[in-house]
Amino acid sequence: MEAKTNLLVRDLRAGYGNLDILNGVDLDVPGGQFVALMGPNGAGKSTLLKTLYGMTSIKGGNIDWRGKNIAGQKSRAILGEGISFVPQGRCNFPVMSVDENLQMAAYTLRDAKVKADRDYVYDLFPILKKRRATLAGNMSGGEQQLLEVAMAVLQRPKVLLVDEPSVGLSPAAIGIVFDELLRLHADGMTILLVEQNTKKAMEVAQRAVILRLGQVIWDGLPKDITHDELGELFLTGKMRGEADAVH
Ligand SMILES: Nc1ncnc2c1ncn2[C@@H]1O[C@H](COP(=O)(O)OP(=O)(O)O)[C@@H](O)[C@H]1O
Ligand SMILES: [Mg+2]
Repeated sequence: MEAKTNLLVRDLRAGYGNLDILNGVDLDVPGGQFVALMGPNGAGKSTLLKTLYGMTSIKGGNIDWRGKNIAGQKSRAILGEGISFVPQGRCNFPVMSVDENLQMAAYTLRDAKVKADRDYVYDLFPILKKRRATLAGNMSGGEQQLLEVAMAVLQRPKVLLVDEPSVGLSPAAIGIVFDELLRLHADGMTILLVEQNTKKAMEVAQRAVILRLGQVIWDGLPKDITHDELGELFLTGKMRGEADAVH
């Protein structure tokens, strides 16, 4: 069996143009772990995922993955290294069927030196198999979110970065999407999930990491932080017991 691989983020600084958003992020993600990344709006959660996937300007620091620093590499190369990204919002092709969407995803990945096939995805997501001829845009929000995840796992990544998959979904649909993430995790996938639905995130993740102003300010087990403490942090920008507000 292949050794578990860790993703090691060191003093990562990144942003958009001259704008610095990540101000020295340190984070170790052991292979196979399911990590929930939380924090107030604008904390830099999406920016961190985008940075891990090569979509921002890196100002400094390292992203160590399989013995090399992938910080600054292009998304396609990062994908080829086994890290895949499900961005926030819809990014399927609404007037194509599920089958065609997966075919498109496989097509766009053709240079990534990865094995991509629809049957693999249909085994993982029987719901999509049943819907293979349905136009993506005619499916429910939950089914479309599953399709987004499926398009990202088509190339059999080791690490899945998922940004706010629950936005706009009904509680039932959220349940289905999270169940699928848990199944991928049970199969060995490392998952870094950004989620505003903290209750749900705390249920599924093995570890919680809280970001504020582009830095990790808390890192621990979900059971060691309460819902109230998280709410307070999101409201005031302060952790309970912290002396000064940070602006
Ligand atoms: N493409 C962009 N260009 C410039 N600034 C951006 C861009 N995307 C996000 N930002 C800014 O970066 C900061 C962090 O945003 P983001 O990472 O989306 O936060 P979060 O996901 O934690 O809510 C915000 O101040 C936001 O306005
Ligand atoms: Mg975000």
